[in-house]
Amino acid sequence: MKKFLKVTAIVMVFAMLACFAACGSAPEKEAEKETLVMATNAAFPPYEYKEGDEFVGIDIEIAQAIADKLGMTLEIKDVEFGSIIGGVQTDKFDMGIAGMTVTDERLQSVNFSTSYATGIQVVIVASDSNIKSLDDLKGDGSMKFGVQQDTTGDIYASDTAENGGYGEDNVIRYKTGADAVQALKTGKVQAVIIDNEPAKAFVEANEGLEILDAEWAREDYAIAIAKENTELLEKVNNALAELEKEGKLAEIIDKYIPAK
Ligand code: ARG
Repeated sequence: MKKFLKVTAIVMVFAMLACFAACGSAPEKEAEKETLVMATNAAFPPYEYKEGDEFVGIDIEIAQAIADKLGMTLEIKDVEFGSIIGGVQTDKFDMGIAGMTVTDERLQSVNFSTSYATGIQVVIVASDSNIKSLDDLKGDGSMKFGVQQDTTGDIYASDTAENGGYGEDNVIRYKTGADAVQALKTGKVQAVIIDNEPAKAFVEANEGLEILDAEWAREDYAIAIAKENTELLEKVNNALAELEKEGKLAEIIDKYIPAK
């Protein structure tokens, strides 16, 4: 094995030297577009979801518009929500765009762009449930709360009662919001805490569910970028400001969230 590695290393060094010699003197080719790698979790309509094999949604279109402005090719990686920040931190991804809420805790790990949307945490229950208001939600073991793992809904709900949560033991974490909603339909959980726009999409797609008429928490969505990558942060913020000024941002959001 060691020998194999050694041989591989020597071959690689030669290949690199050969490339330096050849590539260096080669006539300048048309510069290839650099890739802008975005990580998302495409189970979060209307921000990001799949239509067949295609990624669609507000975040996808905003990311594409930013890539266009930067003259880059957008590449989309669909990953678990909880692995986006780590991947951005380690440069696996250039940016995370996933209806991601700016929180103090996340700000310890990454930088965030200026905010491009507002999210509200809401509660979905079964229409025939006797949970009718936030006051009916109890962290006393009498009900279970479904959330998407590692989201703010998860973080808030799992917190202690003193901090406004329902206690970790009463929260069941799912890979996607859709899975949590499925668990609500089959009675495994009695309430799902999730962002308002996906909540609306899920309630529309599933009979017998409704959203409690109350805001659980209000938050800002922004783009996560590695702390060291201040150059990209600035470019993204400039692009967002231009998109805002051109009315493009509003146009994208209106397309997916028609004003009533
Ligand atoms: N806004 C919430 C958060 O930042 C949920 C985001 C979930 N996004 C997704 N693409 N699944 O934690």
